Amino acid sequence: MLKQCLFSPTSIKTGFIAALVGLFFTANAKEGMWLPPTLKNRENDMKKMGLQIPVSQLYNEDGTGLNNAVVLFGKGCTGEVISSRGLVLTNHHCGYGTVQGLSSKQNDYFADGFWAKKDEEEIPCPGLTVTFVRKMENVTDKIITGLADTMNEAARQQVVEVRIKNLEKGFKTATGLDAMIKPYFNGNQYWVILTETFNDIRLVGFPPNGIGSFGGDTDNWMWPRHTGDFSMFRIYAGKDNKPAAYAKDNKPYQTKQFLTINASGYKEGDFTMVYGFPGTTMEYISSYQLSQVYSILDPIRIEARTLRLNAWTKNMQASRDVFLKYTSKRAGIANGWKKWQGELRGLRINNVVGKKQEYENYFQGLASYDQNLPFADDVLANIAAKATAVNDVLKAEEYIKEAVFGIELLQNAAILDKMLQVLRNHRIVNKNDSLVKLAKSLEGMYKNYDAATDKEVFASLMPLFVQKNAGYVPTSFTNQLKGQGNDYNAWANYVFSSIIADQNTLKSFAETATAADSNRIIGDPAWLLYNGINKVRQQHISPYISRYNNEMAYLNRLYMNAQMNLDKQKSFYPDANLTLRLTYGKVAGIDPDGPAGYSFQTNLAEAVKKHNPDVEEFKMPAKLKALHEERDLGRWSVGGSVPIAFIANNHTSGGNSGSPVLNAKGELIGTNFDRIWEGTMSDLYFDEKLCRNITLDIRYTLFIVEKFGGAGRLLKEMNIVKPCD
Ligand code: ARG
Ligand code: GLU
Repeated sequence: MLKQCLFSPTSIKTGFIAALVGLFFTANAKEGMWLPPTLKNRENDMKKMGLQIPVSQLYNEDGTGLNNAVVLFGKGCTGEVISSRGLVLTNHHCGYGTVQGLSSKQNDYFADGFWAKKDEEEIPCPGLTVTFVRKMENVTDKIITGLADTMNEAARQQVVEVRIKNLEKGFKTATGLDAMIKPYFNGNQYWVILTETFNDIRLVGFPPNGIGSFGGDTDNWMWPRHTGDFSMFRIYAGKDNKPAAYAKDNKPYQTKQFLTINASGYKEGDFTMVYGFPGTTMEYISSYQLSQVYSILDPIRIEARTLRLNAWTKNMQASRDVFLKYTSKRAGIANGWKKWQGELRGLRINNVVGKKQEYENYFQGLASYDQNLPFADDVLANIAAKATAVNDVLKAEEYIKEAVFGIELLQNAAILDKMLQVLRNHRIVNKNDSLVKLAKSLEGMYKNYDAATDKEVFASLMPLFVQKNAGYVPTSFTNQLKGQGNDYNAWANYVFSSIIADQNTLKSFAETATAADSNRIIGDPAWLLYNGINKVRQQHISPYISRYNNEMAYLNRLYMNAQMNLDKQKSFYPDANLTLRLTYGKVAGIDPDGPAGYSFQTNLAEAVKKHNPDVEEFKMPAKLKALHEERDLGRWSVGGSVPIAFIANNHTSGGNSGSPVLNAKGELIGTNFDRIWEGTMSDLYFDEKLCRNITLDIRYTLFIVEKFGGAGRLLKEMNIVKPCD
């Protein structure tokens, strides 16, 4: 549905001039991820920055707000409804897992893409859900009334949990919606979120990896970026237009609340908003906890994952079989690995620990003059004492997670422990049935497992763990290593003689084992390591960490409370917790490596230049290249190319993937999919100079759907405000 013909297309030339102008333009970034019902308080500020609609159009309680067009996609992404027939747009990487489940050798959607040419071709996606937030309400009074701030955490939590359960039940009955009450501001506020979840979701469109993950891990978290990171799904509903389990004759969900698409472009400095579900941030932690992330946790994660990824990559390059088994796992592990490096870089460049310390001095000044919050004065000192006391334990735990359990064999050794319990349990009559079931539960794991690769991971991660964790290395480790003449490769060979290194060995063990065979498990080298590390954890680590977590929950609640009550200079927004938020900022370029690199937008012509047939990550489909070569770009041509991505200074986080990026009128101009490298520290500290979110330009999405996918039927159901043909 083509509504209007507003603007003429901006040419590349004007884009370039805008970029130059941008050099002198001061960004007006806005830190904060705001709860939609509180936007009224931000309205003046948003209007000053460029918002052209009342905030009541973004969220309201009469069912007409744009919140009804934004969905939690699956369990950790965002999506947006873009037609009256329940069409949902999200990222390629958000649909990836689902599409892996639908793909096969015959239907390789990663290689070939997928475009349903009519409704009947849309593919059901078992397990996938889409959740709408219909309403949010502050219920703090009902949850913490009568509870003293300094009440013991465990006792307080007990009362809070009972109140939450009862209140949730009441809301469900009263509204017929799902109700979930979550803590905000470290437990100083509580909100109920009333939601509706649909579970008949079908795949509609998915570009091949050569578009949807173009640039792969190399370009991940980087700018400039040329990834067509989108996919499309459709919500199906029962006859009453309400959520229903999958049924062939369910109908596309009918709705009046869907986003209008504005395909007329934007320029630097334009107001933007991102509406979605950011997952986790820790903006208000003290310098002591920040130092744990900066000096202990991130470095260990990076150090261990570098070794793991080196071994994986080497073997993936040597064998296509290993590549196919490890590509998806690798993407996940490498995503964190690369993000934390950017986070450290950002924290260092900004001296964020130092900035936190400065803030703490200021806070301490406020606290010492205040009479009303007796706990405020020593809350930081208490945090400091607890945090420093636990550092060694935290370090050991992180090495166990990343180094010991970075080895898949040890991760899976839990199965041997379960088998041991079966063999020893006199009440289980048919033990082999149970063992076979357990062995079967690892089938999916073995499908994507290569023992030779994992053995190399073992040989490179074990020295790291053994050498860096004095005091926490189990005797089973040191004994085995000594038994192999202190040679890590020999030790690896020995450990990989385990029953679980080979699926068939495990299977026949499960089928034939008798009670006497529990000895085989007790003598199994992988089980011995697993058992040893569990004991160390139980005795020397877990109790300290859980005590620390409880103490910190208490202290951080008080610290947050004191900051909010004493520091009137600051605007407080709650840390991300995978609930609906709106953040706003402006389109703003950046200069990652000096003035020559300055840009705020990328385009197809640049992507074509990056094409490399020899490198999987940069292999562009021939059809896309041809469309570009023949300038067959349809109405999406902007100066002979198509814009792909742009950056802006909206405050986003993991979980904002797939979020709608809206202009000043609340119209869709793109889909959020990443942040720039240095900016990933915004989960801990937002700085407008370094933080940018990366958005896929809606025009590239529409171009790919129409010209590459041949699925122009989808554009007909959208409401597009577009440039003239
Ligand atoms: N960095 C983005 C996010 O955090 C995209 C990840 C998907 N892409 C990839 N190459 N692994 O989720
Ligand atoms: N790619 C991220 C996600 O999957 C979004 C990028 C970010 O962390 O900001 O949610």
